[in-house]
Formats: sequence, C-alpha cells, structure tokens
Amino acid sequence: MQDNQPPSLDTLGRPLGSLRLSVTDRCNLRCSYCMPADSYTWLPREDLLRFEELRRLCGAFVSLGCDRIRLTGGEPLLRRDLPELVRLLRALPGLKDLALTTNGLLLEGLARQLAEAGLPRITVSLDTLQPARFMSISKRDGLPQVLRGIAAASEAGFESLKLDSVIMRGVNDDEIPALIDFARSMRAEIRFIEYMDVGGASQWSAERVVPAAEILKIIEKSHGPAQRETTQGRAPATPWRLGDGTPFGIIASMSAPFCDACDRSRVTADGQWFHCLYAERGTDLRGLLRAGATDAELMSSIRSAWAGRDDRGAMQRLGLSVRTAISGDAHNEMHVRGG
Ligand code: GTP
Ligand code: 5AD
Ligand code: SF4
Repeated sequence: MQDNQPPSLDTLGRPLGSLRLSVTDRCNLRCSYCMPADSYTWLPREDLLRFEELRRLCGAFVSLGCDRIRLTGGEPLLRRDLPELVRLLRALPGLKDLALTTNGLLLEGLARQLAEAGLPRITVSLDTLQPARFMSISKRDGLPQVLRGIAAASEAGFESLKLDSVIMRGVNDDEIPALIDFARSMRAEIRFIEYMDVGGASQWSAERVVPAAEILKIIEKSHGPAQRETTQGRAPATPWRLGDGTPFGIIASMSAPFCDACDRSRVTADGQWFHCLYAERGTDLRGLLRAGATDAELMSSIRSAWAGRDDRGAMQRLGLSVRTAISGDAHNEMHVRGG
C-alpha cells in the first residue's frame, strides 16, 4: 500500500500515531474496574475480524503513518493462534513498535511463542500480590498463575516487560511499595494508573481515585526520593527512577489528562474504530472491509475520519460536576475497547 500524501492530522494537529487493536472482547477475569458486575453483551463471533482482515486494516493504518500497534482484548491471549497474528503484523513495512497488554493468566504457556514470533514488548496487568485480594478484584482465583506468567515473560527475552497496576483507594493502595519491589525482582517496569471512570468501571467513584501526586508520596516514603526522568517517553506514563535506579511510571489519566498529545485510537474486535477512550460513537471499518473496499478506499476513509477528530474525552470530563462511569452500548466498555 502506498500513500504519498502528507501525514494524517486531526483537527488539533495530532497525528495518527498509535493503534490499540482488540483481538477479542472475551476475558477470563472479571475485574470490577473494567467489566460491569453481571451482565455482558458479548460481540457476535461472526463479527470478529479474521487475521487477514486485521492484517489489511493494520496495513492501511501503517501506510497512513501509524507506526505503533498494541494488541489488547478483553484478554488477547484467548484469541486462538495469536503468535501467528504477531508474525503477520511484524511483517508490515513501516511498523516500528508492536506490543501486547495481557492479564497474564495464559502467559506461562505462551510467553516464549510470542517472543519467538517477534513480539518485542509486553505489558501484564497486576493490581495486587495477595491471592484473596486478587479474587475480590477479578472474581477469579488466578494470582499464582499470573505470577508464573510474569516470571515466564521475564525469562522469554522480550525487549521490554511492563506491569500495569490500577490503584484504587481502600482496595490496593497499601500495596504500592510491595508492587515496586516485585517489579524490580522481575526486571519489569511498573506503572501505577489512576482509576478511571471508563465504561465498565461500575464501582468507580471520585473518592476511590488516588491521584498521581499521592502515589508518588507513598513511593518516596517507602523507597526514598525519586527523580523524574528528563526523557519523557510517549504519553501517557510519566517516568520516574528511584535512587537505586529502579524505574517506575505513573499514569495520571484523571488528575492530568494528556488528551492534547493523544495520538492513539482503538479498533474493537468487531472492527469499530473509536478515536478516544471515551468516544461514544465509532466508525464501522468491518462494514467497509466486508463490502469489498479496496486498500485505497480503506485508507481514504480512515484519513478523512481522522481529519475530523476533535476528541479530548478525559479533559472534557474534568469539567463535569458529577462523574460516573459511562455506560450503555457494550462498545463503550473497557473490556471491549481494550484499555
Ligand atoms: P507504552 O507504549 O508501553 O508506554 O504503553 P502505554 O504508555 O501506551 O500504556 P498502555 O497502553 O499499557 O496503557 C496503560 C493504561 O493507560 C491503559 O490501560 C489505560 O488505563 C491508560 N490509557 C491508555 N490509553 C489511554 C488514553 O487514550 N486515554 C486515557 N485517558 N488513558 C489511557
Ligand atoms: N481505570 C484505569 N485503567 C483501567 N484499565 C481497565 N479499566 C481501567 C480503569 N477503570 C486498564 C488497566 C488494565 C488494562 C487492560 O486496562 O491497565 O490492566
Ligand atoms: Fe480485567 Fe483486563 Fe479482563 Fe478487563 S480485560 S476484566 S482489566 S483482565
């Protein structure tokens, strides 16, 4: 695919830089911050994009300048033959970065295959090191399995292993120091994430958010002063380093949203393209693919939709007097949208 036009920019001058591609909406956990308590509407199986469709779609995005892709879910390791998809995407000319976010339950058996397929970077969600707490957050008894998955990833030879912890007041905020120590023992970089009022976070409340500044205070109290890294990587994490060199990050999605620099968008497993984590409507790319659109038509539709993007979801929500998690269509929920 070729595109000789200037880079795709949205109405605020933000480039089409990074795509989060959900490969399934199914999940083998039921984390309260991401999925509603009991009723889910699963996407119909025939709607899920096949590997060839995913490859074509990613090819179109990459040709338009998007050079980073992250595979997400639901839980992406539930998608059969995922290493094969990694191989297909690695072969796209122009793609500079490929990563995966997983809950780790199936990672022990797949870490090596994913690394061998050419996946350079992996992020595992880990909110607690206590089995009973894991059960109460995720409604499944899986902590030992996740810890074995992280250990396998640490040994598998990825260029980068990260751990993501959503911090919730009164739930796991007392574990921040222990999580730092655990990450160090796995040679992983941990990032603490402010609890967001995204779709699916049905138990969210403002009181449960632990702001970045408070997270940092807790860490400095237990581990001594931290230095902010001068080379801030790409949003959203602010990188820090402890005196002994241990890196960590804080993602201040609530207290300091980074919408003005946001170059990311999301495709759900059934091919709906959302320009923002909080966007209520998407573009039906599956419809285009299945109606026989050519690569050029696909690219032109993506380019013109991006040109109209004006989303600043997290920043706009700062102005709301009452905040609750968004709800409604399953496509609004984090487990469908991919985090
Ligand atoms: P790296 O490429 O490894 O730096 O990953 P990342 O910094 O993009 O982080 P990752 O994709 O793992 O996202 C971490 C978390 O940040 C997500 O799980 C969300 O909680 C939050 N996050 C990711 N994307 C967005 C976004 O577009 N807006 C907001 N407000 N939060 C986001
Ligand atoms: N707040 C912050 N992060 C969330 N994630 C899911 N739901 C939320 C939320 N309400 C992120 C977590 C999880 C990933 C899949 O998505 O990092 O590990
Ligand atoms: Fe938990 Fe991730 Fe599954 Fe959501 S998608 S329920 S955060 S494991």
